[in-house]
Amino acid sequence: MKKQLTLFAALAIAVLLLATCNKEQVFNETPQLPETPYQYEINENVGTDATVVLGRVLFYDKKLSINNSVSCATCHKQVHGFSDGQTVSTGFGGRTTRRNAPALANLRFYYRFFWDRRASSLHDLVLQPVQDHIEMGMEDVESLIEKLSKVDYYKPLFEEAYGTSEIDADRISDAMADFLTALVSTNSKMDRVDNQEADYTAQERIGRDLFFSPEANCGGCHSGINLGGVGVGNIGLNMEYVDNGIGEISGNNNNNGVFKTPALRNIALTAPYMHDGRFKTLEEVIDHYSDGIEAHPNLSVQLSDDPNCWGCPGPFAPRQRDFSEAEKRALIAFLETMTDYDFISDPKYSDPFDY
Ligand code: HEC
Ligand code: HEC
Repeated sequence: MKKQLTLFAALAIAVLLLATCNKEQVFNETPQLPETPYQYEINENVGTDATVVLGRVLFYDKKLSINNSVSCATCHKQVHGFSDGQTVSTGFGGRTTRRNAPALANLRFYYRFFWDRRASSLHDLVLQPVQDHIEMGMEDVESLIEKLSKVDYYKPLFEEAYGTSEIDADRISDAMADFLTALVSTNSKMDRVDNQEADYTAQERIGRDLFFSPEANCGGCHSGINLGGVGVGNIGLNMEYVDNGIGEISGNNNNNGVFKTPALRNIALTAPYMHDGRFKTLEEVIDHYSDGIEAHPNLSVQLSDDPNCWGCPGPFAPRQRDFSEAEKRALIAFLETMTDYDFISDPKYSDPFDY
């Protein structure tokens, strides 16, 4: 009996040891990086391929979270155009964020970030999610630096990037901002048509023309290389918003329900939609503009009866777009041309860890 018990105890210990070993192995996993580093498109005054490589490793490294469970890529997944497919996102402790995770691409063209535009520099932004008590939960930057200093593979990466292996907050921020800046997407069908390398189908063309027409006026807010990312709007999602966006940080009621106009690049991959992820499909989004616009007191003029009445005092009455079924399908066909399949499968932006 005693013998059996000892055997059982020994077995239990062995199983336990094995389990911890496995965990250690995961923890010590080193990133797989190519011998010849990938080349990134990056402004040389700002960074180098080596700083971007470091940024890529940091972006995908779960050690940046308090319990090694969450990396930036948990909520910004390459296959989803660097969004996460969730209504709102889940952080290190299983709690959810307030807002939908935006897609990331061509951030170099923007100077305002987050749905309420509260951040004005990528460098200053990147350490926020790391310390966020829902997203990644590190106590402070010092504990992050201390933690990363104990991870073998960071020394050579920092040395390669900055000349010495010293790890500090500035270097971490710079490297991650450089990786974000290097996320360049320019090979969607829309880009190829713009470069005269492809043609829209008849349906996509109808959708495109409608998008930029004075009647639909989508282009009145969604413009530029990503069809969005600049400017702000209130699109009348509700009469009263639970999350008031820019109104909350400015304290000005005239900004209630006003959010950054989101980029539409890779939009077919970034469902669900809106700051709170309320719409599951592009059909639902188009239906909103077609007959769901509410008369919010801050409704943007572009969605009103008189879209050119700049400087008019408001509030504006909504003008529903009343799209036909064929128009709705055409708009969606056009939105789908913004998917960049190279971007979402390019190994130089992919996860270097093999968990
Ligand atoms: C738990 C999920 C989660 C994690 C982890 C996370 N993010 Fe985010 N990210 C979000 C959400 C949600 C937003 C929108 C927040 C808002 O607008 O208030 C966001 C917004 C952003 C934006 C702004 C994009 C834009 O167009 O305005 C950038 C850039 C970004 N995150 C980068 C990062 C980086 C870098 C990391 C890792 C250090 C990271 N995120 C980790 C969920 C996450
Ligand atoms: C007044 C400016 C404005 C106009 C006009 C406008 N949009 Fe938007 N659009 C926005 C804003 C702002 C949001 C985000 C709103 C929110 O989350 O509260 C948005 C969200 C979206 C989204 C979801 C994006 C995401 O990542 O969640 C899509 C798709 C979209 N709009 C397509 C269109 C189409 C198609 C039209 C024309 C029928 C149009 N928009 C007209 C400002 C505008």
